[in-house]
Amino acid sequence: MASYDVIFIGAGPGGYVGAIRAAQLGLRTACVEGRETLGGTCLNVGCIPSKALLHATHMLHEAQHNFASMGIGGVKAKVDWKAMQAYKDDTIGQNTKGIEFLFKKNKVDWIKGWASVPSAGKVQVGDEVHEARAIVIASGSDSASLPGVEVDEKVVVTSTGALSLGRPPGNVMVIGGGVIGLEMGSVFARLGAKVTVVEYLDRIIPGNDMEVARTFQRILKKQGMEFLLGAAVQSVKAMKTKAKVTYRLQKDDSEHTAEADVVLVATGRKPFTEGLGLDKLGVEMTRRGQIAVNGRFETSVKGIYAIGDVVPGPMLAHKAEDEGYAVAEILAGQAGHVNYGVIPGVIYTHPEVASVGETEESLKEAGRAYRAGKFSFMGNGRAKANFAAEGFVKILADAETDRILGAHIIGPMAGDLIHEICVAMEFGASAEDLARTCHAHPTYSEAVREAAFACGDGAIHA
Ligand code: NAI
Repeated sequence: MASYDVIFIGAGPGGYVGAIRAAQLGLRTACVEGRETLGGTCLNVGCIPSKALLHATHMLHEAQHNFASMGIGGVKAKVDWKAMQAYKDDTIGQNTKGIEFLFKKNKVDWIKGWASVPSAGKVQVGDEVHEARAIVIASGSDSASLPGVEVDEKVVVTSTGALSLGRPPGNVMVIGGGVIGLEMGSVFARLGAKVTVVEYLDRIIPGNDMEVARTFQRILKKQGMEFLLGAAVQSVKAMKTKAKVTYRLQKDDSEHTAEADVVLVATGRKPFTEGLGLDKLGVEMTRRGQIAVNGRFETSVKGIYAIGDVVPGPMLAHKAEDEGYAVAEILAGQAGHVNYGVIPGVIYTHPEVASVGETEESLKEAGRAYRAGKFSFMGNGRAKANFAAEGFVKILADAETDRILGAHIIGPMAGDLIHEICVAMEFGASAEDLARTCHAHPTYSEAVREAAFACGDGAIHA
């Protein structure tokens, strides 16, 4: 038995980041992880492997569609699936081993195995019970199941199975027009598959800016993806090498069936708390099965904290990381804090989609007066040179004070561009502050400056 100041349960972005920060702040720290490798869903079967496949298939697309137009001839790009999978696995390995190294460097003990919490102050892993002044649950999330759908991770897959298919599929049905569905859907589309997205709502990426969502759908359609909106999936039947999807169209209540080589179920994720024994401890849960916490990440049981996908808020790796830093600081007697108003969201397709803060829809609903400054990448020289001129930047600023309230970008490197707006928002900047900041030419970020100009007297290149 060992005794710690804090034990984190789960080594995903919430748990491993929190553990490293806690150790850096002088706390005796351990992190329990039952997987063979550290990094949680994000590094093993989520963010990182999907980005590897998104990058590889984007390169394929560039080679097939844009090389010749740039004067690069003679390239006949074709897919070696085994090698592409090996590249993805190598990327995972480099990242997960990196966390192992960071644990050693920062003196975080990795307790291998699956944890349960018999009582506050105690963490059981196998036959061993470890003691800790504080326990932080960072056990993440799992794919949500859908009634009538049985996942076999071969023909009917979640994002986990989709990352490791035996061969590139010819025909894919994606259930859910959210982040996972569109990222993985575009991977398969670039590999040459016929991809159909079946979405329950009458729009894709719910919660995102509506204008961005419409533009995004149009661009993905141009890339070959098909959309069945307002369609509720009733059942998915797996056969040996195919699956049959039954869905109901809401507009006329008609029932339809379709077949696909692979069906990807991407209808959301649910908190993962199995085996922890929280019910016996009386840890209060929300109606949605999340662990209820206060502003200091304390659960209803003293000494037990929770962060990341198991608590309310967006299920995003970087939100979990921020909560990891914050809880570590709180446990070390500092004032840890997360600004939930400035958490960016990114969809890593091509083009990328990125957003932060309020949307036009949320501002209208709240009855707040705002100005929207928009700039198209068509007016950005760098984007035109790089065949990346689709999309726009939109900045929303308070009509009276000009303070930036939100931003929405669809376009090249949107996931990186969004951060100058996040920093501006953290500093309470106005759109004019951004517009008056010199931006290097020629860069994509000039489009951000132009959108800020458009909140005031107008953009130059529009
Ligand atoms: P999501 O919540 O983003 O999208 C699920 C979609 O499925 C919604 O549009 C919903 O209306 C639809 N849906 C639900 N039931 C349906 C039915 N019966 N028939 C048809 N459509 C149905 O969930 P997703 O894509 O599974 O992602 C899960 C979580 O992982 C999200 O919180 C997401 O933010 C996170 N994630 C984030 C990534 C990123 O930041 N780039 C990448 C991958 C996942």
